[in-house]
Amino acid sequence: MLAGKRILLIIGGGIAAYKSLELIRRLQDQGAQITPVLTRAGAEFVTPLSVSALAGAAVHQDLFDLTNEADMGHIQLSRSADLVVVAPATADLMAKMANGLANDLASTLLLATDTPVLVAPAMNVRMWEHPATQRNITQLRADGVHFVGPDKGNMACGEFGRGRLSEPEAIVSAIAEQLADGPLSGKRIIVTSGPTHEPIDPVRYIANRSSGAQGAAVARALAARGAQVVFITGPATVASPAGVEVVPVESARDMQAAVIAALPADAGVFAAAVADWHVAEASDRKLKKSKDGLPSLTFVENPDILRTVSQLEEGRPDLVVGFAAETNDVVDNATAKRLRKGCDWIVANDVSPETGIMGGAENAVVLITDTGADPWPRMDKQAVADRLADRIADTLNNKS
Ligand code: CTP
Repeated sequence: MLAGKRILLIIGGGIAAYKSLELIRRLQDQGAQITPVLTRAGAEFVTPLSVSALAGAAVHQDLFDLTNEADMGHIQLSRSADLVVVAPATADLMAKMANGLANDLASTLLLATDTPVLVAPAMNVRMWEHPATQRNITQLRADGVHFVGPDKGNMACGEFGRGRLSEPEAIVSAIAEQLADGPLSGKRIIVTSGPTHEPIDPVRYIANRSSGAQGAAVARALAARGAQVVFITGPATVASPAGVEVVPVESARDMQAAVIAALPADAGVFAAAVADWHVAEASDRKLKKSKDGLPSLTFVENPDILRTVSQLEEGRPDLVVGFAAETNDVVDNATAKRLRKGCDWIVANDVSPETGIMGGAENAVVLITDTGADPWPRMDKQAVADRLADRIADTLNNKS
């Protein structure tokens, strides 16, 4: 899949650096040609010898060694790749990148390069969540830098949260996606998927029957066509596809915040089954049975993510696609919904229990656009996703 592709791999510091060895091995298996660069901090965790032995190439470590070499200065090194990959990327290295600092080999290469850059961050959850890191990420995204991860989970430092380096397999998929020459390469697309969970108390929540299958299929189809996909998913029952940036969320409010944070994008596909309401003042303690009678829940309307994005005055994606889950008058309801929300297309489907669509493998949709309603035959959810992704590619390419 990556035969002949040249990857400049910058290995930053941190305990996750050991995973870069597995990454090199997997890239080798796919036929990629790796030029490794080890930062000073990275060399505290993996040895130059193991990196060069696995990569089958010399490791570059020092800016000043390079300038002495007649045939391979740092400018040339930075440009002799199809993709620059930083894995793991520390908060410090990302801060340097965001601010254009160039005081060592890695940061100098990153400032001098004119090839696309993919960053796989790894750090403690507090460092990841720190406003300074988040500011740097926003800046790097605006500069066109691509991200994979970080994942959520247990960390080497004993804490739990977002900040773990993505698994080598996911980084390889993200690399393949970057190097794919599909019709959507260079396009950034946000996909929402799955149900949302709206808390009642710390142990109870309100949910719906969405499995997340259709949203995952759409994200997979877009990534397969070369798009950079940000996959914002509620607690789905199906696995997230490989080769996309996964942002797990719980509630509608979390999902809206994640979507806004992921902008700008060329397109947004809103396949999530978002709860319309959340419980006002969810209890922070488990509700107990009481002699005073049953508890009563008061509901508050959730933000409408699709409508918010469709009606953005600044930074609206070129194409906004919503889904409509209806149980009757599918075309009429979905046509009205398209106008009410202000999106460009609505993919409408009948989710009456007898159709078996919600939670099932197949879907029968009607695509509603400004030119009318186009009913598609009943087919596998992946086939619906592939057809939709092809339409999206045609539309974005005609617009640009
Ligand atoms: N949607 C959203 N945010 C919400 C509710 C819905 O982004 N708070 C999106 C869904 O992801 C989907 C579309 O809006 O793309 C339509 O969702 P649906 O539940 O069918 O529509 P509602 O707005 O809830 O309309 P109604 O309940 O009147 O059918």
